[in-house]
Amino acid sequence: MKTKANLIVGIQWGDEGKGKIVDLMAQNYDVVCRYQGGHNAGHTIVVGDRTLALHLIPSGVLNPKAINIIGNGVVISPKALIEEMEQFGESLENRLFISDKAHMILDHHISIDQAREKLRGAKAIGTTGRGIGPAYGSKIERSGHRMGELRDTTKLAQNLVDYFDTYRAIFDAMEIKTPNFDELKIELDEFANILLPYVQDTTALVWKSLDENKKVLLEGAQGTLLDIDHGTYPFVTSSSTISAGACIGLGLNPKDIGEVTGIVKAYCTRVGNGPFPTEDFGDDGEMLGKNGHEFGTTTGRPRRCGWFDAVAVKYASRLNGCDQLALMKLDVLDGFEKVKICTAYEIDGKRVETLPQSLENITPIYEEFDGWKNSKGVSTYEDLPKNAKDYVKKIEELTGTKVGLISTGPKRDETIVL
Ligand code: GDP
Ligand code: IMO
Ligand code: MG
Repeated sequence: MKTKANLIVGIQWGDEGKGKIVDLMAQNYDVVCRYQGGHNAGHTIVVGDRTLALHLIPSGVLNPKAINIIGNGVVISPKALIEEMEQFGESLENRLFISDKAHMILDHHISIDQAREKLRGAKAIGTTGRGIGPAYGSKIERSGHRMGELRDTTKLAQNLVDYFDTYRAIFDAMEIKTPNFDELKIELDEFANILLPYVQDTTALVWKSLDENKKVLLEGAQGTLLDIDHGTYPFVTSSSTISAGACIGLGLNPKDIGEVTGIVKAYCTRVGNGPFPTEDFGDDGEMLGKNGHEFGTTTGRPRRCGWFDAVAVKYASRLNGCDQLALMKLDVLDGFEKVKICTAYEIDGKRVETLPQSLENITPIYEEFDGWKNSKGVSTYEDLPKNAKDYVKKIEELTGTKVGLISTGPKRDETIVL
């Protein structure tokens, strides 16, 4: 049978712990690929005393034998990528490959992102300010520029200057200063010198890897509820964060995708604005944030915290075709007298068990369970407190999805494989 690529996808609003699981699984993979998003992502890996935050480079980078691919669906800030590569202190050549079809995030995208957020005022999305939306916008409106264009920086610089001139009035209105040809050329030459050795046709590389029966892992960024089509629009990111996005973002077909693992926190967080039905504004929310160290990896913003939303997770599991869930940060619930799961919504006085188009004005209906202590660091199912086991079983029952992995701490060995 033809080899398929396995996939990791975020199930909630991002920051579920994808980095930890990809790093863990990557020890057994030959190829790890990112397929969407950009440096809005922040994937944390903890190995021994070392903590690494990755934004663009796939979380397989710590397996020296694995190669890492940044696919065509990712938007790449050359500046951010170069900075991230530098932290390794050694060349990643032959271990990192960048799609020549991936679109670039340039300074004007970042300025537009930040200017638009300011203009939105109270209706701000709470973006990461990394230029993600404007870069994907340029791609869709066909005015973007791709990594392969770094092969001719004179032409690219001229095209950019022409673009800035065409839209001069808009840039002026937004008070965005655009670079001239010479400034651009210097900067683009630097990007080209450093990055071109890594740039190639990565679709061909993934196909070849699968044809040679290599083990390929696909790493999603963000989460299902931030998906441009299926998330809490407009409070979403600008890419297809769900498993289907991997086909577009790498050049795979649906039959190339094998096992799908949904990464989900044992509670729920969100960073940025937008509806969050199970958000807890009281002591419980505060304790979740404190115990879970819930601060953004990319922006440092405090994350909003609340209870596990089984309605949303069931929806996300179906949408992604999850074969299993990895239940993360179970240890963060240690010490709560009672823990809650949202099993349905009340909307206009009616009980609803499916995800509506809008998550505004929803009252969550909760089931309450007895809490537990001491799940922190547990690495076998047998050693989990009974109430924690019951909680895991309840999640499987409510979401209709098997829990195949439980995480009880940020480190690799703080993991239960079921
Ligand atoms: P990602 O964006 O999905 O990769 O997740 P982030 O790295 O942004 O956020 C997850 C945070 O939780 C990181 O700081 C991880 O080190 C940490 N983490 C991952 N798994 C666990 C766990 O099981 N327990 C605890 N306490 N922390 C975890
Ligand atoms: P990882 O991969 C959590 C959120 C932002 C904002 C919205 C749009 O670490 O899980 P954007 O800058 O993408 O236009 O912002 O999406 N967001 C994330 N939230 N984790 C992420 O990535 C996120 N990437 C974007 O906070 O609400
Ligand atoms: Mg993150």
